[in-house]
Amino acid sequence: VIDIRKLYGQTGAFTYDPGFTSTASCESGLTYIDGDQGILLHRGYPIDQLAEKSSFMEVCYLLLNGELPKKDELDKFTYTITRHTMLHEQLATFYRGFRRDAHPMAVMCGVVGALSAFYHDSTDITDPHQRMVASHRLIAKMPTIAAMAYKYSVGQPFLYPDNSLSYSGNFLRMTFGVPAEPYQVDPVVEAAMDKIFILHADHEQNASTSTVRLAGSSGANPFACIAAGIACLWGPAHGGANEAALNMLREIGRPEKIPEYIARAKDKNDPFRLMGFGHRVYKNYDPRAKVMQKTANEVLEKLGVTDPIFDVARELEQIALKDDYFVEKKLYPNVDFYSGVILSAIGFPTSMFTALFALARTVGWVAQWNEMISDPEQKIGRPRQLYTGPSQRDYVPLDQR
Ligand code: ACO
Repeated sequence: VIDIRKLYGQTGAFTYDPGFTSTASCESGLTYIDGDQGILLHRGYPIDQLAEKSSFMEVCYLLLNGELPKKDELDKFTYTITRHTMLHEQLATFYRGFRRDAHPMAVMCGVVGALSAFYHDSTDITDPHQRMVASHRLIAKMPTIAAMAYKYSVGQPFLYPDNSLSYSGNFLRMTFGVPAEPYQVDPVVEAAMDKIFILHADHEQNASTSTVRLAGSSGANPFACIAAGIACLWGPAHGGANEAALNMLREIGRPEKIPEYIARAKDKNDPFRLMGFGHRVYKNYDPRAKVMQKTANEVLEKLGVTDPIFDVARELEQIALKDDYFVEKKLYPNVDFYSGVILSAIGFPTSMFTALFALARTVGWVAQWNEMISDPEQKIGRPRQLYTGPSQRDYVPLDQR
């Protein structure tokens, strides 16, 4: 704690905490993490149980409403989400304004931000009903938005949602189906997709969620707030790590080259880091990474995919977990380490990986945003700083500088 009252003539104590490593920015009842034990709970339920036994729709309901749904509640919720999967038709024109090779995350920042221009009837944040409608819209439309970004990038026609399919099945069809041919959703892939969405649904006050909360604290509309979250998630230190991890595994290519990359990661003069390793909060195995590794095993086996990248990943993990540098710094695989292997086996290009993360995290973002706005004590987020610039001085006219 640095008392800067004397320096600035202000009252009160300031804490200086770059990166907010030890500052709680809010109270929240959604997600609990014990980083030392490697525990993650949503509304009290362990992530491995949710991934194993529930569905993404159930987890969405749980995060938004606080309790697991009863059968009729889940049916009603699923129906509501299904009713909102379509995008306003004019948004298709909006896509066409992007360059063909635009990154899907760039397209998603733009399209999600633009939703507020189309759905005025859910932007009054003082109305709890409108807030819930906006939340449902965002959860429902993200698969359509992400799939359209993909279709646009490969030059194929957009596919409208098929609401007879599950949330994950519908997304797979909109992404990989073509209008001229029937599309059969593979149940193995559908189940894996749903699990991947569950594993990414929420993660308390990470950078993108904090961004959503900060944007929302000024009273900005929910669509603008989620667009801000997407922008933050894009960075390689956050959601972009799954794309970076797979690119790294491909670059390593074969197990013999692993020691070279381990040595680079340990070299203080080399900016290279093992992508998919390390976490601000987990100083133990990320519980999501465990489920992800198991799912990768299942998917590759059931799809009959033999990807040498998976062998590289497993071998790299084994070597790193025994290496003094990684042991001392408590660097373990995080959720992104294996997700790229599965997504690649399913057929997604690396550029879609972070878009999928954004799709899944949308429920966490809207649930956190709702929790914040519902709090009567809620204030605008306004961090302070330690000023390090010049002290007061007089203006010098141009001809005297
Ligand atoms: N490879 C090599 N060294 C690492 C790695 C890594 N992946 N991660 C951290 N370190 C080292 C740092 O060099 C630092 O060493 P030092 O103390 O000698 O300076 C030490 O471990 C602590 O690292 P920080 O960057 O200070 O830790 P921080 O909590 O700020 O960063 C982060 C966490 C950003 C996740 C970091 O571990 C990282 O960059 N990992 C790779 C990217 C990644 O996988 N991100 C996904 C995070 S999970 C998610 O967003 C879903």
